[in-house]
Amino acid sequence: MATALPAFTPAEASLYLTLCGRALDSRQERSILSDTTAAEIVERTGTKTADYPHAKTGMRDIALRAKKLDGVVRDFVTRHPDAVVVDLGAGLDSRMIRVDPPATVDWYDVDLPAVIAARRTVLPRPANAHLIAADVADRHWIDELPSGRPAVIVADGLVAFLPQPDLTAVLRGLTAHFPAGEIAFNGYTRFHVWALKHYKGTNSIAEAVANPGFDDPREPERWNPDLTLVEEILLSRAPEVAGYPLPVRLATRLAALSTAWSRRGTTVLRYRFGA
Ligand SMILES: C[S@@+](CC[C@H](N)C(=O)[O-])C[C@H]1O[C@@H](n2cnc3c(N)ncnc32)[C@H](O)[C@@H]1O
Repeated sequence: MATALPAFTPAEASLYLTLCGRALDSRQERSILSDTTAAEIVERTGTKTADYPHAKTGMRDIALRAKKLDGVVRDFVTRHPDAVVVDLGAGLDSRMIRVDPPATVDWYDVDLPAVIAARRTVLPRPANAHLIAADVADRHWIDELPSGRPAVIVADGLVAFLPQPDLTAVLRGLTAHFPAGEIAFNGYTRFHVWALKHYKGTNSIAEAVANPGFDDPREPERWNPDLTLVEEILLSRAPEVAGYPLPVRLATRLAALSTAWSRRGTTVLRYRFGA
């Protein structure tokens, strides 16, 4: 019998796009992420991927950006086995299962209360996994995190839903809380935000889009001077593109010729802070 999920608000319901994108990718012969847990959750909750057309058109970008963010976390916890991992706006993502960190790492998934309640019903929780039910804009939740340890913080698909003052405040709150670490998220340019609001496949979440977007990957350094851009990953130039079907591969290779065009596609931005 299917595990029914509650009716979500448009911001919360955006988790279906990424969940379905990863599930669809996992069923491809040349899957990028092989996230079979996403496929199991879709199945178990009776979620219809056809209800989320953007999940199909965007599945490669969704899977590839998750893979790059997984890589940031995996790399960090390998260097810092005492790390704290924070996944902001975690939705029903099973990043912790994919990354499989050492037991010495403490992992925090943060999302709005209805989503965290849903996570409890569909995802296993190892002893070092912690859930925080909170609006990230309400910075009190940061006090629940351990301090004094290096931290890697990721936000996959969240930034578009945060008004700029809230995004700035949460970034500042996190870099003030931890002595050092990294923050990585997928970039949302002003074009992305416009597209999210106007594209038919994402209009169910359009009203929840609250961030204006930013075109310069160095812009977050101005919101929070503790941040230093380490890497801008242009997915159009990722080696995984070689496995895309021919028409998609050609279009992606063409975009890869220009940084500006690549930024119209998906990017993953990685910053460091502290010592
Ligand atoms: C596009 S989904 C991405 C979910 C997940 N990271 C993934 O990749 O599947 C965006 C997520 O951000 C969460 N979210 C949006 N606004 C939030 C806020 N103010 N505080 C906490 N979570 C928020 C939503 O509930 C949703 O789960």
